[in-house]
Amino acid sequence: MNNNQESLLACHDLTMSFQEGILHVDVLKGINVEINAGESVAIIGSSGSGKSTLMHLLGGLDLPSSGEVIVDGEKMNNLSESERGKLRNRSLGFVYQFHHLLPEFTAEENVAMPLLIAGESVKKAKSAAREILDKVGLAERIAHKPSELSGGERQRTAIARALITNPKCLLADEPTGNLDRDTADQVFELMMELQRSMNSALLIVTHDIELANRMDKVFKLENGLLVLN
Ligand SMILES: Nc1ncnc2c1ncn2[C@@H]1O[C@H](COP(=O)(O)OP(=O)(O)OP(=O)(O)O)[C@@H](O)[C@H]1O
Ligand SMILES: [Mg+2]
Repeated sequence: MNNNQESLLACHDLTMSFQEGILHVDVLKGINVEINAGESVAIIGSSGSGKSTLMHLLGGLDLPSSGEVIVDGEKMNNLSESERGKLRNRSLGFVYQFHHLLPEFTAEENVAMPLLIAGESVKKAKSAAREILDKVGLAERIAHKPSELSGGERQRTAIARALITNPKCLLADEPTGNLDRDTADQVFELMMELQRSMNSALLIVTHDIELANRMDKVFKLENGLLVLN
């Protein structure tokens, strides 16, 4: 648990390399970052600079080549796969670059999923899902499957799913990447609003510098390193 330090998400000297045949690529070369409660941070950087790679490491979806990730005071590297999964489910919400909703389930079922995985009853999970879908403006769409939702609605459903466990830290990888200007604005504001009201940490990858500038800090990922923009 979080002792005296305030940071909800941190990494130290994080590196990640990929070996493709004879080609060795050092994507991340020593990343250090700390995000505190109530803080919002944007990461920008060109395509292929390693933004998604970094998000996957911070979210405990992959393990780094070296360095460590600390989530709510717990070192990810020291945990077994299943313990990492539990920590992820308890403390992190992840919005993927492509929403990753389950196509055969309704919006309500998709959003309820993290609670069901955590062992909550179907009745409670569904009722919580309806409540949060209402917050993101989708009360009328709970019975729709992803293919029956618009792009912005899918993204809002994915945000609702990431928030249903009241995560201390919300990680979003280009959540507004494939949305039009107005919808992107709405989705972004919604995340900021929810983050402020929960005093959680928010980390967003975006190509949109205008949106990035509304956050507390903006970092650029360049040549494998994070620099303050
Ligand atoms: N599993 C993998 N195996 C080999 N190389 C990989 C793997 N995952 C990512 N890479 C390489 O790492 C680099 C960074 O990829 P990443 O997806 O993190 O970029 P990104 O900054 O998110 O780009 P985009 O803005 O296009 O989403 C790319 O050159 C990619 O080819
Ligand atoms: Mg990416």
